Amino acid sequence: MTVGALVPAAGLGVRLGPGAPKALRELAGEPLLVHAVRGLRASPSVGPVVVAATDVPLVQELLTPYDVVVVAGGAERQDSVRLALAALDPAASLVLVHDAARCLTPVSVVEAVVACLRGGAEAVVPVLPVADTVKEVSGDRVVRTLDRSALRTVQTPQGFQRSVLERAHASGLASRTDDAGLVEALGGTVTAVAGSEEAFKVTHPLDLLLAEALLAARS
Ligand code: CTP
Ligand code: MG
Repeated sequence: MTVGALVPAAGLGVRLGPGAPKALRELAGEPLLVHAVRGLRASPSVGPVVVAATDVPLVQELLTPYDVVVVAGGAERQDSVRLALAALDPAASLVLVHDAARCLTPVSVVEAVVACLRGGAEAVVPVLPVADTVKEVSGDRVVRTLDRSALRTVQTPQGFQRSVLERAHASGLASRTDDAGLVEALGGTVTAVAGSEEAFKVTHPLDLLLAEALLAARS
C-alpha cells in the first residue's frame, strides 16, 4: 500500500508574530517547511508528497530536491488539506496529514502512525499525556477541573485510509482544528498511538527557540 503525505503549509503564523509566513520562517538557516519535508523524506514508508502553500512558485523552488507536488492552499487549514488531497497521486491508498509547523517530528512517530494504518486502523493520531491540570472556564470563572488522566494532546502526522479522509473532506462539515476531528464527527474510529515531545508545533515565539535548541542538540 502506497503511503502519501499532505503538508498544509499555507498559514500566516499570526501567533508567531510579525515576519514571513510561518512555513518560511527560518530555523538554523532553512525554512521550517524544508525541515518538515526533509523529515517526511527520511521516513522509508512515505511516497508521494503534496504541499499546500501560499507562494507556490517559491515553495516549488525551495523543495526542488525533495520531489514534491505544490498546490495553492486555502483560507483555512482544512481547505488546504482538501486541496492537497485532490492533487495526491491516486496510487496512495494511505494518507498522512502533517503540519509544516511540526517541523522536527521524529521519523519514529511517522512510522508508528503508518504501522497502525497498515494494521487496518481507519484513522490514527499521535498523542501525548497532558502535563498541566486543565480547567474549563467561563470568562474568568472556573467551571470545573477535567480529568487529566483521560485527556491527550494531539499531534501530526495523522494517518487515514484514503477513502476515510476523502469522505471526511467531502462531508461539508464545519472547520475543525484537525482532520481526525472530521472522522470522529462522522462516527469513524480514531486510534491513538504514542506521539513525541519533539513533534511539538511551532506556534509561539518560544517554540522557535526550542526548535533551534533541539536542532543543535541533534547535530
Ligand atoms: N495551514 C494551512 N492553511 C491555512 C492555515 C494553516 O496550510 N489556511 C497550515 C499551517 O501552515 C501549519 C498548519 O496548517 O503548518 C497548522 O496550522 P497553525 O499552526 O495554526 O499555523 P498558522 O495558521 O500558520 O498559524 P496561526 O494560527 O498562528 O496564524
Ligand atoms: Mg492557524
